[in-house]
Amino acid sequence: MGLFLSGAIMLYRIARSGFFQLDAEKVHDLAIKNLKRFTGTPFDLFYRQHLPSRPVECMGLTFNNPVGLAAGLDKNGECIDAFGAMGFGFVEVGTVTPRPQPGNDKPRLFRLIEAEGIINRMGFNNLGIDQLLENIEHSNYDGIIGINIGKNKDTPIEKGHEDYLICMDKAYSSAGYIAVNISSPNTPGLRSLQYGDALDDLLSQLKSKQRELAAKYDKYVPLTLKIAPDLSDQELDQICQALLKHQIDGVIATNTTLDRSIVMGMKHANETGGLSGRPLQSRSTEVIRQMHQVLGDQIPIIGVGGIDSFVSAKEKMMAGAKLVQIYSGFIYQGPGLVRDIVKNL
Ligand SMILES: Cc1cc2nc3c(=O)[nH]c(=O)nc-3n(C[C@H](O)[C@H](O)[C@H](O)COP(=O)(O)O)c2cc1C
Repeated sequence: MGLFLSGAIMLYRIARSGFFQLDAEKVHDLAIKNLKRFTGTPFDLFYRQHLPSRPVECMGLTFNNPVGLAAGLDKNGECIDAFGAMGFGFVEVGTVTPRPQPGNDKPRLFRLIEAEGIINRMGFNNLGIDQLLENIEHSNYDGIIGINIGKNKDTPIEKGHEDYLICMDKAYSSAGYIAVNISSPNTPGLRSLQYGDALDDLLSQLKSKQRELAAKYDKYVPLTLKIAPDLSDQELDQICQALLKHQIDGVIATNTTLDRSIVMGMKHANETGGLSGRPLQSRSTEVIRQMHQVLGDQIPIIGVGGIDSFVSAKEKMMAGAKLVQIYSGFIYQGPGLVRDIVKNL
């Protein structure tokens, strides 16, 4: 098996040089289509990995291992079983919105190959919450599925909380946990929900919805908040205080960054959108460290941003992350990255 897997990793690297000649979004769509098609057939041997069990207790849930798929890669939950087969300890689907929406105009996804980074301004292109739930229903994955929720672009920001409540209502009984995304830079005004009264109001409404749904389904589904890396120390501290006040179950740090200082001068560096991958690695770790200093063990942190090796995953954990997630590292390195991290833990 070991021999086969290193073959699979080599195969990914060879295939990658071909993929990277093509338009990034076309490759993404093709990959999703094929993963969907191959799951449950003998072809899934190309990405199936049998990894050692490394269970982690977090937010009252047991994760098979601490390495999850970050939101945005499988927005509609079309390939959950395939990502499970690759050995991810949990899969976060979405961001999903109440109604389907096309997202921003193309092109909207760019690789910064020399930096192992990605810039995207997808804008929550997704098929809507109902389709996502149907896809989850058809999945056989026995791990934890996080459902990442957002607001439709044409919902005014003052009514944004209504979209989160609609999604929460619908997603609750199917979700292992719910991630509230208020940190995408690609939906106008969304990040304003990270501050002051807007955050306080949103968290208070979400928490009361969680209480109502927990009673209705006799099931407690943890609520997490996904935040941006582009926040000052003081703003981070205010978010921590709000998380503590409202007893939010977890925080996902971080989403993509608007900062381009590390990639200045590189091809595509000036594209509008959020930057992810290696250029985000140290900033997201710093955000985790700062939040952990305030939150301690009271609220667990899911660390995400530029994880591209066991070492960088471990750095996030040393900074205070209980679980980690990957997106860009997976694009650059394939499923072998999950194996490398999990095996070395
Ligand atoms: C193309 C792309 C689309 C993304 N879409 C979403 C999304 O819909 N919701 C979300 O919360 N995060 C989204 N993200 C952010 C990732 O989940 C992650 O937080 C970020 O990319 C940092 O991790 P990474 O450096 O491992 O990629 C997206 C990232 C990329 C690259």
